[in-house]
Amino acid sequence: MIKGIQYRSRLFYQTQTLIKLGPAWQHRFRLAAAHIPEGVSVLDVCAGPGDLHRHLPSGCRYTALDASPDFTRHMTARQIPCLVHDLTRSLDAIDDHFDVAVMIISLCHFGHARAQSLLTELTRLADKVVIVEEITENVRPEGSRLQRTMNFLTATDYASSYSILSAHEFKRIVTAAGYHYQRADLRYAVGIYERET
Ligand SMILES: C[S@@+](CC[C@H](N)C(=O)[O-])C[C@H]1O[C@@H](n2cnc3c(N)ncnc32)[C@H](O)[C@@H]1O
Repeated sequence: MIKGIQYRSRLFYQTQTLIKLGPAWQHRFRLAAAHIPEGVSVLDVCAGPGDLHRHLPSGCRYTALDASPDFTRHMTARQIPCLVHDLTRSLDAIDDHFDVAVMIISLCHFGHARAQSLLTELTRLADKVVIVEEITENVRPEGSRLQRTMNFLTATDYASSYSILSAHEFKRIVTAAGYHYQRADLRYAVGIYERET
C-alpha cells in the first residue's frame, strides 16, 4: 500500500496545516480548550503531534492517543504521555479513565458506523467528551480531485479515507450518540457529551 506523507512527517503536517488555515491555525485547539476545566486529566484522541497540550488550562494532565508511529515517537521523545492505538479497533482494551476526552478534526477519518460506535466508546472512557470537527457546506463527491488528493496524502495502514462532513451529517452523528451539538463558526462545529452526576 502507498503511504501518504501527511501523518508520517510532523513538519509536513504542521506546515500543510499552517498553509491551509493561516493565522487561525491554532483556533481549533482554543475551541476545544474552552470546554476543559483547569486541573483535569485529558485524553487527546487522534492527537496528531500533540499540539493541543500547549493550549490546555493550567494543571491539566495530558495524554495523547494516535496510531501514527512518527507522531507517537515524536511525543514519546518529548516525554508526552502517549497511547499507541488504532481506532478502527475498539477502545475497550484501554483501562484508564479520564475526566475529559477530546477529538479534533478526526471524525472525518471514520465511516459513519465506526464514528458512531467510537463516540459511544469515548463516553465510557471519560466523564466529558469534546469533539471539534471541521465541517463544510460543500461536501466533495467520492472521486473528486480534492477528495483523491486528501486520501492520497493521509493514506496509512490505519486510515484510508478523509472525508469532511457537512454540518448536517456531523449533527446527526453526534446527536444520535447523545452529544449536544453546537455550531462554533463557519469552519467548525462541536459535539459535547457530559455524564450526568
Ligand atoms: C487531521 S489529523 C488531526 C490531528 C490533531 N487532532 C490536530 O488537530 O492537529 C488526524 C489524526 O488522526 C490520526 N488517525 C487517523 N486514523 C486513525 C486511527 N484509525 N487510529 C488512530 N489514529 C488515527 C492520524 O494519525 C492523525 O494524527
